[in-house]
Amino acid sequence: MNNQEARKKLEQYGQEHVFQYYDELSDRERNELIEQIERVDMEVLSLCEQKDKLQKKGKITPLAAMQLDEIEKNRQYYFNMGCSALKNGKIGAVLLAGGMGTRLGSDDPKGMYNIGITREVYIFERIIQNLFDVVEQIGTYIHLFIMTSDKNHEQTTRFFEEKNYFGYNREYITFFKQDMAPAVDYQGKILMESKSKMSTSPNGNGGWFTSIIRNGLLNKIHKKGIEFLNVFAVDNVLQRIADPIFIGAVLEKNCAVGAKVVRKAAPDEKVGVMCLEDGKPSIVEYYELTEELRDARDEDGNPVYNFGVILNYLFRVKDLEEIASKKMPFHIVKKAVPYINEKGAFIKPEAPNGYKFEALVLDMIHMMDSCLPFEVVRNREFAPIKNKTGVDSVESARALLKENGVDL
Ligand code: UTP
Repeated sequence: MNNQEARKKLEQYGQEHVFQYYDELSDRERNELIEQIERVDMEVLSLCEQKDKLQKKGKITPLAAMQLDEIEKNRQYYFNMGCSALKNGKIGAVLLAGGMGTRLGSDDPKGMYNIGITREVYIFERIIQNLFDVVEQIGTYIHLFIMTSDKNHEQTTRFFEEKNYFGYNREYITFFKQDMAPAVDYQGKILMESKSKMSTSPNGNGGWFTSIIRNGLLNKIHKKGIEFLNVFAVDNVLQRIADPIFIGAVLEKNCAVGAKVVRKAAPDEKVGVMCLEDGKPSIVEYYELTEELRDARDEDGNPVYNFGVILNYLFRVKDLEEIASKKMPFHIVKKAVPYINEKGAFIKPEAPNGYKFEALVLDMIHMMDSCLPFEVVRNREFAPIKNKTGVDSVESARALLKENGVDL
């Protein structure tokens, strides 16, 4: 992209002010700014105009989960099937570590957080340890793709190198950066982080597959014969990754995607639950769950919207490729965005002063034709770290790790 083209793109989206300091910039800064303008997706900006329109959900109906008793009956069969797929290199894992982890309040990437008490135990370390459980079982390494963002890439890769990849085989780890989306003020104007840089933030956990494509990794995935990708969040330290039984069940049911789910702890628990929406797999968020849906029961009297997602999905690659060209919905979220004011002074606001744009994995589920919700035991597999204390915190995760015999 050249100067003219960059200017044209800005005009098209009503963002000419991004060039206001252009004449003051060095050649290097000018090039950097033009490159950023080229890379950043500005189509999302139109969302600002529609932000007050409520996204209407379609018709919600139940989607049955494969529950623990059924899994138990077929355990050995699924396990053998999953192990065979793993040994044949058909399964890759994708760690979503591009988030900002703002609620945890650490300046470092979330995975670098030390949750140990008497010794150092990093979140990334726990994840690699969990992956090792399967690697040791099947006797071969599993390819791990780690998604970072512009904001944490250097730090994350340096940390893994310093820690010698926690013993994992470096050749089986690929880092890639996720795409960034512009951050805007309440009028929809892109905020500037400096005179030569727009304020941006990672484009949400749903941006992972398009970022894989943009980074040219699809070739690698094909070459290695990877047919399924197990995508998971950085912050669940009890995470079972590349779980053979889960893989076997999804293969056997021939689904485009499998979703690990936990039984809700209470009808009003704040988790998104699996359902069908207009006949396609979907997730209804806790704040979208009407009283009627919350209390709906099957003929045996069991609640039908009772299985919450834990951000651990197994996607079939060919189905991902089919949806890749389709437009993902973006969500608009209020955020404190650092920026330079009209006098050029850098401001780091404490409270939200604008919006960021995010794509969510759960919207990818709705683009798939079939999904298997697969129940897991909450206390064995779900210890998310979102906050420092309280619910889903370092404290609660430590207690769960101890319960599972992990020495902290
Ligand atoms: P969260 O939605 O909990 O966001 O991410 P977060 O950024 O970690 O934390 P807060 O909300 O700022 O406190 C769920 C998972 O999705 C990843 C996160 O790294 C985490 O594994 N994620 C989120 C990305 O990889 N990229 C994003 O843009 C957002």
